[in-house]
Amino acid sequence: MTKLHENENKVDKKKLYYIETWGCQMNEEDSEKLAGMLENMGYTKSNVRNESDIIIFNTCCVRENAEFKVYGNLGELKALKKSNPDLIIAVSGCMMQQKGIPELIKKKYPHVDIIFGTHNIHRLPELLNNSLQGKSTLIEIWDAEGDIIEGLPIQREGDIKAFVTIMYGCNNFCTYCIVPYTRGRERSREPDSIINEIKELSSKGYKEITLLGQNVNSYGKDLNNMSFAELLRLVNQVEGIERVRFMTSHPKDLTEDVILAVKECDKVCEHIHLPVQSGSTQILKKMNRKYSKEDYLGLVEKIKSKINGVALTTDIIVGFPGETEEDFSETLDLVSKVEYDSAYTFIYSVRKGTPAGKYETQVPETLKHERFNRLVELINSISERKNREFKNKTVEVLVEGYSKSDESRLTGRTRTGKLVNFTGGDINLTGKLVNVKITEPQTWTLQGQLICD
Ligand code: SAH
Ligand code: SF4
Ligand code: F3S
Repeated sequence: MTKLHENENKVDKKKLYYIETWGCQMNEEDSEKLAGMLENMGYTKSNVRNESDIIIFNTCCVRENAEFKVYGNLGELKALKKSNPDLIIAVSGCMMQQKGIPELIKKKYPHVDIIFGTHNIHRLPELLNNSLQGKSTLIEIWDAEGDIIEGLPIQREGDIKAFVTIMYGCNNFCTYCIVPYTRGRERSREPDSIINEIKELSSKGYKEITLLGQNVNSYGKDLNNMSFAELLRLVNQVEGIERVRFMTSHPKDLTEDVILAVKECDKVCEHIHLPVQSGSTQILKKMNRKYSKEDYLGLVEKIKSKINGVALTTDIIVGFPGETEEDFSETLDLVSKVEYDSAYTFIYSVRKGTPAGKYETQVPETLKHERFNRLVELINSISERKNREFKNKTVEVLVEGYSKSDESRLTGRTRTGKLVNFTGGDINLTGKLVNVKITEPQTWTLQGQLICD
C-alpha cells in the first residue's frame, strides 16, 4: 500500500476548477478524489465551465455514444482556450486507457494540456504543476494498475450518502465489455482501510454508504482473510451509519452467505442490483457470463424467498451479435418472470479490442432499436404496476433535501431504492429517516405525505 503525502503545491489567489464526469460510480468517485486533490492545492469548485481556471473531463468508453459526448465537448473548448490561454484543460478516465486515444486527442484537440488515465489519478497535482510550466500536451498513462493508493484527499458530492470503493478492476472479461481493459485486474482494499473510511464518514454525519466494485461479490479473493459477506457484516456494525448498499453483483458469484448477510444485517438494504445482460442461455454463453437463464432464475427465486420485500434491478444489453428474435423473446420472458423494480437497458455497442467487437453477426441498428423499444415498454409497465402496489402504504425514507423538480417537496429514497417526493416536512429533516405515506405512485417516483408521530 502506498501512502500519499499532503500536497505541498498551493495556488496563491482563488482559482476555480470544474470537473465533468461521464460513466459509472467508479468514475464519480475518482472525480471526487480529483476534486479533493485540487481543493488541497487551494482551488475552489465552480459549476460554471467557462469561468474556471482548470477544466477536467473524466471520461467513459463503455459505449460509443459516451465517447462521442467527450469529443463534442472537447471541440467546444477550443474557442474558450483561445480567449483564455491560461486555462488548463485535462482529460482523464477510462477512455484514455484505450490504445491510440491519447495520441488522437493530442493531435485533433491540441488545446488539451494534460491527458492521464485511471491508474494514476493521484498524479494530478504534479502533472498540473508540470503543465503550468510547459506548453505542449502532457500525456501520462499507466498501462498497468499499481498499488492501491490509500489516503487521497476526497471532496464528496453529497453530505448524506457516500460511495466507498472496496475493490478496483475486473477479471471477468465479458466479451462485449471494455472495463477490464480500462480498469485492470481485481484488487481489494484492506478491510481496515474500508472500515476506517466509513467510520470517518459516520463522524462527519453521513448516513448511507454504497460499497462499490465492478463485481463486489469477488471482494477479498485476493486477500485470503475476508469475504464480501464478512465485510458486509463488519460495515453493518459501524455506528451512525443507517443504510448500506452495494453494487455491482455478478450473478455467478452471488453466494448464499451474501444473501444471508443481506437478510440478517439490519442496515444492509433489501435491494440487489443483479445485471442479467440477456435472457438467452446461448447469448449468455457468447457473452462469457458463466450462468444460464435457468441458473439466474434459480438465484432470483432463492433471493426472493430469503429476503423479505427485496427489490431487484438489472442491466440488459439488446442486440448482442447473433441475437435472434427467439433469443430476444427469452429476454422478455425472463424480465416478465423476475419482475424487476427497474432496469438499465443498453443497445449493444461495438467496443474495439473486445472479442464481441470482432463477431461478424452484428445485429442491424434498426432491429436493435426496435427490440430496445419493446423491452423498455415491458420494463416500464412492470415498474408502474409494482409501484401502484405502494398506494396508501407507509415507507421509510432517508431524506436528502428538497426535490430538484419541485422545491415545495422533500425527496429521498426507500430502503429498496425507490425515489419518494413528499409534502409535510421541512429542510431540517435532511439526513433523517422518516415515515411517508404514499398517496400517488408514478412509474419513476412515489409521491407521498410525511407521517408525523
Ligand atoms: N460491472 C458491472 C457493470 C459494468 S458496465 C457488471 O458487470 O454488471 C455497466 C453496464 O454497461 C453493463 O452491465 C452492461 O449492461 C453495459 N455494457 C457494457 N458494455 C457494453 C457494450 N459494449 N454495449 C452496450 N452496453 C454495454
Ligand atoms: Fe464488464 Fe463483465 Fe466486468 Fe461487468 S463483470 S465490468 S460487464 S467485464
Ligand atoms: Fe465507463 Fe469506465 Fe465506468 S468505461 S462505465 S467509467 S469503469
